[in-house]
Amino acid sequence: MNILHIDSSARLSRSITRALGEAFTSQWKIERPEDKIIYRDIGTQPPEFISEPWIAAVFTPEVKRTEEQKLLLALSDQLIDEVSSADIILMTSPMYNYGMPAALKAWFDQVIRVNKTFTFDLNRGDFPLEPTMSGKILVLLTSCGEFGFETNGVRESMNHLGPHINTVSKYLGVAQTHEVRIEYQEFNDSRHLKSIERAYAALPGLISDITEQLALPA
Ligand SMILES: Cc1cc2nc3c(=O)[nH]c(=O)nc-3n(C[C@H](O)[C@H](O)[C@H](O)COP(=O)(O)O)c2cc1C
Repeated sequence: MNILHIDSSARLSRSITRALGEAFTSQWKIERPEDKIIYRDIGTQPPEFISEPWIAAVFTPEVKRTEEQKLLLALSDQLIDEVSSADIILMTSPMYNYGMPAALKAWFDQVIRVNKTFTFDLNRGDFPLEPTMSGKILVLLTSCGEFGFETNGVRESMNHLGPHINTVSKYLGVAQTHEVRIEYQEFNDSRHLKSIERAYAALPGLISDITEQLALPA
């Protein structure tokens, strides 16, 4: 099995999401040391924003692309290869302004690409997009300063992090998402400590659920 591990916090040393991601991979390695983990740090090395020449290159048929256009798409090609080879995507993400960090959005814009990760066909009617990949598992580890972003929570309608990532991950072939969220960071009180405890306590069960599922015949 291959895991693509993506961190996206701008913080390094004090990042809650990076630490939780690290705990996940350490526990995973104990369970399945033979698995390969590819690591991408989007937080400190954000992909470039896409541009008009980038979009033009994407819509140019592969055989007609100039050397310059191929170069422009080289990072996107590499990021897509990483997604393509992954059975599990482990994504850690802070909530910034009620959504994902711009760096992570830049990554999604680079990897969700017509004729690579999805096809577009108007013969399909009102839903012309279809992902080319399938069956991937997304483990999404998030952290926010406030609280109540869960279903029926007091800030459910302000949550544009998990729901947005869920929506776009379909085009990476994600079939199921498991989110573990830490809340109350800005309150830094007992509720925050409890939320951290709960998140770390959820990891062993999540890992055994996923590994059991992987052991089943397809
Ligand atoms: C630029 C910025 C914007 C933030 N926006 C929000 C927000 O909209 N809602 C929220 O609950 N927390 C917000 N936070 C708090 C972070 O989500 C919280 O500190 C989280 O733990 C950051 O992840 P990290 O610890 O992995 O760096 C924001 C923090 C920063 C730095």
